[in-house]
Amino acid sequence: MRPPLDLTAEGAADSGTRGHDQTELLALEALYCSHGDTVHYTDPPKLFERCEGSFLYDVEGREYLDLQMWYSAVNFGYRNPRLNNAVTVQLDRLPQLASQYLHREKVELAARLARRIESTWGMKGRVQFNVGGSQAIEDSLKLVRNASRGKSLMFAFEGGYHGRTLGATAITSSYRYRRRYGHFGDRAHFVPFPYCFRCPYGKKRHDCGLYCVDQFARLFDSEYHAAWDAKAGECEFAAFYVEPIQGTGGYVIPPPGYFEKLKGILEARRILLVDDEIQMGFFRAGKLWAMENFDVKPDIIVFGKALTNGLSPLSGLWAREELISPQAFPPGSTHSTFSATPLGTAVALETMKMLDEEDYERMTALKGTYFLNGLHELKRRHRIIGDVDGMGLALRVEICSEDGFTPDKAMVDALVGAALKGDLEQGRKRYGLVLDIGGYYKNVITLAPALTISYAEIDLALALLDQLISRVSKS
Ligand SMILES: Cc1ncc(COP(=O)(O)O)c(C=O)c1O
Repeated sequence: MRPPLDLTAEGAADSGTRGHDQTELLALEALYCSHGDTVHYTDPPKLFERCEGSFLYDVEGREYLDLQMWYSAVNFGYRNPRLNNAVTVQLDRLPQLASQYLHREKVELAARLARRIESTWGMKGRVQFNVGGSQAIEDSLKLVRNASRGKSLMFAFEGGYHGRTLGATAITSSYRYRRRYGHFGDRAHFVPFPYCFRCPYGKKRHDCGLYCVDQFARLFDSEYHAAWDAKAGECEFAAFYVEPIQGTGGYVIPPPGYFEKLKGILEARRILLVDDEIQMGFFRAGKLWAMENFDVKPDIIVFGKALTNGLSPLSGLWAREELISPQAFPPGSTHSTFSATPLGTAVALETMKMLDEEDYERMTALKGTYFLNGLHELKRRHRIIGDVDGMGLALRVEICSEDGFTPDKAMVDALVGAALKGDLEQGRKRYGLVLDIGGYYKNVITLAPALTISYAEIDLALALLDQLISRVSKS
C-alpha cells in the first residue's frame, strides 16, 4: 500500500524513489505549478503517460486517437523512429555546443532550408534559429524594424495568433493577452481576415470580388486614412504579419486570389510580408509552406513547431538577403544560449531530408481529401456542424446551434470533454479522442492529425467523431 499523500517539500521531491500516482501528481500540480504557462481545459486536467504514432495513452492505459498532434508540432507521428534516431545519434556524438561555434547540423540545416526556398520562389536569403515560435517572431520584428528604420507599427489579422511574448502579443488579435501587461513598443492595426463563412462585410464568396482587399486598399487612398504619406511615398506600417491559414483562429482558409491581390497592395506601398508558418508549415496545409498554396512570395518566413517533430524546441526564420545579410543585420542582433542546439538542428536536418525523400505533397493531398470527404458526410448527418473545410491535413469543423450558424462554444467544450473520457466504442475496443478548440468564438474543432495517419485511422477518427457528436448533442 502507498503511504498517504505527502505534500511537504520532502514528499514532493520523493518522485525519484517511488513515483507519484495520478492523484498525488494532480495535488502537487495544484500546489507547485504556475498556471500562468498553461490552461486547464478539463477538470481535473488530463495526464498522459505514453505515446505512439497517432495515439496517446493515459495512466490507466486508455488509448486516445490524437487529432491535434500538439497543435501541429508532431506532424510526423509520436516517436517517429527516423527522427527519434537522429536525436540518439546526435546525443552520442555532439549533444552540446555553445552557439558561437559552428556544428555541421546547423549549417546544413540552414543551407537546406534556404536552398529549398530559393528553388520554390527564386529568392536568395538566409536562415537563423531560436528556441520557440514566439522568440522567432520577436526576431522577425527586429528584422522588420531594422529594415524600416525603427518603425514599430504592423498590420496583422483579426483572429491572428503570433505568440505570447510581449512583441508577439502586440500583433496577436486578442486584448485579453495584453490587458494585464501593457505595451512594450510594437502595435498592430488589425485587418479583417477573409473568413468567408462569417464574412465581416456580409458578402458571399462567389460574387464578393474580394471586397475585403478593396477595403484594405482604401487605407492608402488618402493621407487622412492615417496610414500613408503620399508626399514621402511612405507607409507608417512596416510589415503585414499573416498566417496563410489561420491556426488558433480556427483553420480558416482564405479564398482563391486573396493573398495575390493583397500582395499587390503591399508591394506598391513597400510593406513587408511576414509569413508566419509556425503552425501551418511543414506540410500541415499540403505544402512545405502553406503560402505555397497561393501565388505570393513572402519577404520573411517564420517557422517552429514541426521542424523537429516536437522533439526539441527549435524555431527560426528565413529572410530575403537584403534584409538579413551580415551587413544589414549585423552579428549579435539576436541571440539565445540555446538558439541552434546540436540536438535540435540534428533532428530538424533529418526532418528536412525526410521531406525531400518522401512525397508529402501527394500524401497530404490524398489523405486530406479523404478526411474532408468524411467530414462533409458528418456535416450531412449532424445539424450542429455549420461548416467543414480543409487544406492538406489542416481541417476544421465549426460547431453551431441547430440554425447552422450561431456559434456554440458550450457544445464544443462538452464534445472535447466527453472525448477525453476515453469511452467511445469501436469494435471491441474503447477509445478517447484528443481534440483542439479554435476559432474566433471558440466553437471550431481544429483537426491536425499526424501526416503519417493511416486511412484506417482516418476511418476510426470519423467513426469516433460521429459517435461523439451523436452522444453529446442528443444528451
Ligand atoms: C501561427 C503561430 N504563430 C506563433 C505561435 C507561437 O509559437 P510558440 O508557442 O512556439 O511560441 C504559434 C503557436 O501556437 C502559432 O500557431
